[in-house]
Amino acid sequence: MAVIAVLGAGKIGEALLSGLLHGGRKPGELLFTERYPERAEELTRRYGVRGVDVPEAAKLADVLIVAVKPQDIEPLLDELGPLLRPETLVVSLCAGLPTALYERRLAEGTPVVRVMPNTPMVVGAAMSAISPGRYATPEHLALVEELLACVGSVVRVPESQQDAVTALSGSGPAYFFFLVEAMIDAGILLGLPRNIAEKLIVQSAVGAAKMLAETGEHPVTLREAVTSPAGTTINAIRELENHGVRAALLAAIEAARDRSVELGKAHD
Ligand SMILES: NC(=O)c1ccc[n+]([C@@H]2O[C@H](COP(=O)([O-])OP(=O)(O)OC[C@H]3O[C@@H](n4cnc5c(N)ncnc54)[C@H](OP(=O)(O)O)[C@@H]3O)[C@@H](O)[C@H]2O)c1
Repeated sequence: MAVIAVLGAGKIGEALLSGLLHGGRKPGELLFTERYPERAEELTRRYGVRGVDVPEAAKLADVLIVAVKPQDIEPLLDELGPLLRPETLVVSLCAGLPTALYERRLAEGTPVVRVMPNTPMVVGAAMSAISPGRYATPEHLALVEELLACVGSVVRVPESQQDAVTALSGSGPAYFFFLVEAMIDAGILLGLPRNIAEKLIVQSAVGAAKMLAETGEHPVTLREAVTSPAGTTINAIRELENHGVRAALLAAIEAARDRSVELGKAHD
């Protein structure tokens, strides 16, 4: 079994460790690095996984999963550069960092797979998109797909589409949270107690998401099924269209994509 080290056991790194254990990996096959000793001890107590320093992770691991914040990548690459064996698979979860950055800074031929996950990873429901770098083989991609399947769904995309993915599913949960927040406000406006409004909307969101995921029906079909002639829903839909909500979403997601492209240029 491959030894997997998670570099940076923050929110995403911890979620992945926990998911890998639930997915059947043994604690002895996993390692993590963490800067604060107390946090490292807590993680070891919680998961039975050993915390190590970066040189030891580089020496022992077959797969290194980089889960530090993008702004912390430079010192980490400085440290890894002279240590890493070129056969070690590097999996980057860092938003906006191209595989070419790792390929430039690590040993010639190091296989790199770039991943754009999202925060529902903390509840095992992530959407992750993976892209191979220059030296990653189909076997490397298959392994990364298998690892990430422990914490949600996985799709493969060319790296050129990662900015679009970032705007759509990377930031996607935030759009839904925003929508839920606005709908709860609407409940308050209509005189409902906040806790009731929250329950009504959160459960409606869960139910709608389950219908989308489980029936395989197109969203238009599902919406039409609750939009009866001269009914209440069509009145609401007319207002959404009047206020340009569809156009606002297209523009918002395009703006997020543009910002992702801009941030990526810093690493060219
Ligand atoms: N959260 C999201 O929605 C999301 C979505 C997609 C992708 N991502 C990506 O996932 C990555 C992690 O995000 P996160 O939200 O989990 O961040 P986070 O909670 O800040 O976790 C990053 C962890 O890495 C640690 N770290 C930094 N440099 C290190 C080093 N050299 N050695 C060991 N540990 C180090 C940090 O320690 P300190 O606390 O000491 O700084 C922190 O514990 C980011 O690159 C982000 O772009 C996140």
